[in-house]
Amino acid sequence: MSDYDAQKDGFESYNVAIAANRARLLQERCPAAKRVVVIGNCELYLGDCTKILPSIGSVGAVVTDPPFGMSFQSNFRGVKHEKIANDSTSDLLRWVCEQEADHAKYVFCRWDNLFEIPKPKSLVTWVKNNWSMGDLEHEHARQTEVAAFYPGPDHFFPKGRPQDVIRAPRTGNEFHPTEKPVQLMMAFVEWTSGKVLDPFMGSGTTGIACAKLGRPFIGMELHEPYFDIACERIRKAYSQPDMFVSQAKAPQPKQEALL
Ligand SMILES: C[S@@+](CC[C@H](N)C(=O)[O-])C[C@H]1O[C@@H](n2cnc3c(N)ncnc32)[C@H](O)[C@@H]1O
Repeated sequence: MSDYDAQKDGFESYNVAIAANRARLLQERCPAAKRVVVIGNCELYLGDCTKILPSIGSVGAVVTDPPFGMSFQSNFRGVKHEKIANDSTSDLLRWVCEQEADHAKYVFCRWDNLFEIPKPKSLVTWVKNNWSMGDLEHEHARQTEVAAFYPGPDHFFPKGRPQDVIRAPRTGNEFHPTEKPVQLMMAFVEWTSGKVLDPFMGSGTTGIACAKLGRPFIGMELHEPYFDIACERIRKAYSQPDMFVSQAKAPQPKQEALL
């Protein structure tokens, strides 16, 4: 006996046609994009975000992990990824910190970028389950990364005041040399409101977090192989059963004494 369900099949075909039509309209509005793909509530643009962004309307939040001047090339665990584009300076990091978002911006960077970007309101620290190599003789083994936090004009904490530390195990960088854990990006997305923008989406981790949380997402990526990986991972996230289920709840805030 066949499992064919004519109503489900018809509904899926209808959704595919609507998504293709939306992608075509967005592409017309944004000639700087080499390709536009719509998956569920995610609009994904292939191309240079500095050229694409002027065609996009206002967003609620920016949650992003831009190139920040490390000239990073990974060879971790034998997976040799290509060099990250535009990673020789901190120009794009500074650029994204200066973009507008109504609710909030969370921008990953290194501690030594703090002198090059607009002063954030605070930093959120990601504590990993491993540490980076760096200078083995004269640098502490670094177990953390930071994101600069910029509240926008409409900022509020959607689920109460969160702590500024998140613990999440690192990934094995299967899809991207600086791949962030989905659980980590879900925590950031849950601290924001409105449409989320990641202009440097890499393998699409912020988009997956949004798909799982039922949040609208705009993603951009310059490098076509990473763009294709992002499309594939976001498509999978939409088809998985835990969609719209919040897993990475921010810890309950506890007010400490001032002194
Ligand atoms: C640090 S990685 C982001 C990785 C991502 N967080 C993940 O989990 O996969 C930054 C990404 O920005 C992309 N990129 C660099 N310059 C860009 C530009 N001008 N426009 C769009 N993407 C760009 C790089 O190709 C790279 O994939």
